[in-house]
Amino acid sequence: MNEDGLHYSKHCELQKRDADVTLEQCLKYLKCRNGDCIMDVGAAEGSVTLEVLLPKLPNNFKQLLLCDISPKLLQFAKNRTDDERIDTREMDIASSTIPDEFDQHFDHIFSFFCLNWIGDRTK
Ligand SMILES: C[S@@+](CC[C@H](N)C(=O)[O-])C[C@H]1O[C@@H](n2cnc3c(N)ncnc32)[C@H](O)[C@@H]1O
Repeated sequence: MNEDGLHYSKHCELQKRDADVTLEQCLKYLKCRNGDCIMDVGAAEGSVTLEVLLPKLPNNFKQLLLCDISPKLLQFAKNRTDDERIDTREMDIASSTIPDEFDQHFDHIFSFFCLNWIGDRTK
């Protein structure tokens, strides 16, 4: 995928619309609690996470972590917010290990239009 964050942010209307429709259907089943930690896997430059997911989350979450394999896209995302609860982390979801500090850490994990890029989804 192209790593030009500005380009992606200008051309992801379909992704934002689809994520919006999906979240409208699914979020009613999500039990959010005060202090929840949330991850978005394959967040790219942050449009879907920050413009679609974030406004639908209860405001009492503790952490929203945007993960992606592309540091360039994550830097673009990081520059879009000054909310101290929101951070970015470079991560390859296809790796066979996860960082130790992620173990049992997240209450909710989202991913939009990323897992289709992963060859071996059994990892
Ligand atoms: C089509 S974009 C989707 C971005 C955003 N979630 C959205 O819905 O608009 C796919 C993203 O998955 C990321 N990605 C691809 N392979 C990945 C991997 N192995 N680990 C983490 N992220 C990956 C890409 O860098 C890209 O930002």
